[in-house]
Amino acid sequence: MENIILCHGGVGSKARSAPDMNGIAEKSWNEDPLKSVVNAVVIMEDDPQFNAGTGSVMRIDGSIQMDAAVSVPGRFGSVIGIEAVKNPVMVARDVMEKTPHIMLSGSGAVEFARRCGYMEYDPSTVKSREAYRKMIGGIRDGLTENEKYIEFQKLIREGIIDEPHDTVGAVARINGKFAAAVSTGGASPMMRGRVGDVPIPGAGIYCGQDGAVVATGIGEEIAKRILCYRIYSRIGSMPLKSIIEKEIAFFGDNLAGVIAVTVNEAAYFSNGTMGTDMFAKRLP
Ligand code: GLY
Repeated sequence: MENIILCHGGVGSKARSAPDMNGIAEKSWNEDPLKSVVNAVVIMEDDPQFNAGTGSVMRIDGSIQMDAAVSVPGRFGSVIGIEAVKNPVMVARDVMEKTPHIMLSGSGAVEFARRCGYMEYDPSTVKSREAYRKMIGGIRDGLTENEKYIEFQKLIREGIIDEPHDTVGAVARINGKFAAAVSTGGASPMMRGRVGDVPIPGAGIYCGQDGAVVATGIGEEIAKRILCYRIYSRIGSMPLKSIIEKEIAFFGDNLAGVIAVTVNEAAYFSNGTMGTDMFAKRLP
């Protein structure tokens, strides 16, 4: 069976036309599947068009808090609400490889990143700061954070501001071994401290002996359904693409997408636009 790396640039992605996803998958290639998926996610975190790493969206209070995760069979690492680092996915990999834990959050994640040598970094861009100003400009003064959240949702429904979902992710099957990685700035509008699906094992990411699955979309909905583990647990019961389609059908109008690889299949599906591509290569 071919070795494969599959990348996505997020359901609802506005960046889908610019970066060459197949090129990203090809550049990230490594004989180690974990290195491949981390390489792919780092490339997308460093591309300000995606809502991950540089270019992540701002929260209601103007902060940028990012989530990221990596997994190989039996091992998992994630960071939750990490701030002021360039590549959250690399810190998540270090959580998996250098600590006895599976998740680090907030200031603990930042302190760990600094101890690992990750320098302070501002992931905001002119575009993300402008988007935040546009968002805040539509909101009345004197509202509580919860009231602001409700106002933001109204502006999104009315099409006055965009709802960014360009989470990034990758799954790989290389020489029969699997790995998965995912990273996001979150799904706007968000309160400070909000956690989505990305750093929760089984929700936005799952990797086991039978395959690797990564999700994108509205984190709350994905986490409530434990989407990636549900898909993983059905592997072998029908074609992979059908499993993904059936699980995404439960999301109704809520955006959701998945990429996945198994021992003998690779598939993706989303209920919105999703920058996705697959790079397949036979190793010598
Ligand atoms: N799927 C990304 C998030 O909701 O945070």
